[in-house]
Amino acid sequence: MCGIVGYAGPAPASDRPLNVVLAGLSRLEYRGYDSAGVAVASASGLAVCKRSGRLTNLTAALEADPLAPGISAMGHTRWATHGAPSDVNAHPHLSADGRVAVIHNGIIENFLELKAQLAARGITQRSDTDTEVVAQLLGVELADGTAATLTEAMLHVVARLQGSFTLVALDGQDPATVVAARRNSPLVVGLGNGENFLGSDVSAFVGETDRALEVGQDTVVVMTATNVKLLDFAGNPAQGREYTITWDAKAAAKDGYATFMDKEIHEEPHAVEETLRGRLVDGHLALDEMRMDPALFRSVDKIIVIAAGTASYAGQVARYAIEHWCRIPVEVELASEFRYRDPVVSEKTLMLAISQSGETMDTLQAMRHAHEQGAKVLCICNTYGSSIARESDAVLYTHAGPEIAVASTKAFVAQIAAAYLLGLYLAEVRGNKYPEEVAGYLEELSRMPGRIEKVLEQEESIRALARTMKDKTSFLFLGRHVGFPVALEGALKLKEVAYVHAEGFAAGELKHGPIALVEPGLPVFFIVPTPRRPELHNKVISNVQEVRARGARTIVIAEEGDNAVTDYAEHVFRVPLGTPTLMMPMVTVVPLQIFASEMAAQKGYDVDHPRNLAKSVTVE
Ligand code: G6P
Repeated sequence: MCGIVGYAGPAPASDRPLNVVLAGLSRLEYRGYDSAGVAVASASGLAVCKRSGRLTNLTAALEADPLAPGISAMGHTRWATHGAPSDVNAHPHLSADGRVAVIHNGIIENFLELKAQLAARGITQRSDTDTEVVAQLLGVELADGTAATLTEAMLHVVARLQGSFTLVALDGQDPATVVAARRNSPLVVGLGNGENFLGSDVSAFVGETDRALEVGQDTVVVMTATNVKLLDFAGNPAQGREYTITWDAKAAAKDGYATFMDKEIHEEPHAVEETLRGRLVDGHLALDEMRMDPALFRSVDKIIVIAAGTASYAGQVARYAIEHWCRIPVEVELASEFRYRDPVVSEKTLMLAISQSGETMDTLQAMRHAHEQGAKVLCICNTYGSSIARESDAVLYTHAGPEIAVASTKAFVAQIAAAYLLGLYLAEVRGNKYPEEVAGYLEELSRMPGRIEKVLEQEESIRALARTMKDKTSFLFLGRHVGFPVALEGALKLKEVAYVHAEGFAAGELKHGPIALVEPGLPVFFIVPTPRRPELHNKVISNVQEVRARGARTIVIAEEGDNAVTDYAEHVFRVPLGTPTLMMPMVTVVPLQIFASEMAAQKGYDVDHPRNLAKSVTVE
């Protein structure tokens, strides 16, 4: 939520600071796209440009009226919280005297109180944002001499702030220095050669450097072209952890696809392959970062999965496998609801947080609550060094590469693959499965990338179907067993990107209500289990017949060779024969993702940036 880029370069002033920041913003636009803005600092002070709407509005304004070259710069792409998405509410915000500029991700919860204190000094706000108070407070500190430098001012001001924030500030009188601070919102430093970078995540400066520095909670960063200094909020020196960025610039580019969503759907085989790669070490499954004793896994008596959105559906899929393989009860809970129901959590509870970004505030707060109750937290995460990964006791990374489209696709299949690895790991350490059984499941998992490829071969016919349905205003998705969370995900994808009313239901629930929605012409998707599980298969086939008899248009995802469906299905998309039931979601979801993407494209929507959404939701 909100993307942030910062850059500190050498004198003399050049266009590079602005160019680096604009390139970073274009890669961070998935974090918010209500408005965008930049500030450039040079010996002649600050120059600022900001516009509401997409980044192209800002770049057009800069072309029409270019900014002077600079030494340092920063940029912001906004997902509005306080104040409508207008030019004046766009970041950066300036101090009353125009000396200090600030960009911000997060929410300053006590901004009304601070605003009143500023008003008492005769300083009024130009915008409706919570952020502007920070610019004003920094400006006051420097103007009245309370602080001699921007760093000192930042240390004074963060002590007065409540809420969550990543702040980056520039002082027009010290253009070589960029000062940032973080609490509960993401910030990472990129270490360059004679220049340095800041970003909400590494995609801000991917391709510029492969050296990154993890910034801990409650840290101030003071950055020049040749030096990066970290301080805690008391002003004492702090340490960051350096790591190597494995994502490359190509991974953050569309690479010939019309949209990132399309590219990422096509990357699913690779995402699963990478997530599975190198997991067997000396014949045993290995997690990435283990900060808990493996013996603890033997004492676990309950697992609670916490996640939001698509990641929560991956968690629902995981439940079927983990309960089946490990015989441990698994609950799946929406992170935003978890701590409000007074959950029963003990030191024997293993919390499993699933998050692509590793920054979802609902998930982060839920895991903090669980930690407070003594539970251990393991996370499945796609973003190295993110808050959720750093605060977990153990991390299993999905190596899916950067996911840029707001609607999650490849992360979903990679999350399922990772959750299955965890399930097999638990089954092994707890003695529920013999090593050769675990090896058998791993063998099946390693076949999944090829099976996803097979489904992708049907892309054109799926898109053709979407083109015929672009004017439909309502859809149902039905599935049973692991097909149920896939139905929920299919409906979510369509809602997110095509803005169509869509509902996912457990197929067995059809008769308990949703069937009343069925009328002639209503498109209904079915995720049909394999005929090798007749107890599941036959019931779903009956459901297909029931809605067909009422005139609905039936679109069926079924296994190759499953001919029971053909009489009642208007359209059939196939998944490869022999896919184990528990692994079916990794293939059955693919046609639903493609369908949603094409529906959005047909309706002329911005597939990668659906209205009102952000990819990384760092507010509760
Ligand atoms: C947002 C995104 C969704 C995503 C969810 C969870 O709502 O729009 O696509 O599934 O957050 O994100 P996470 O990064 O925690 O997986």
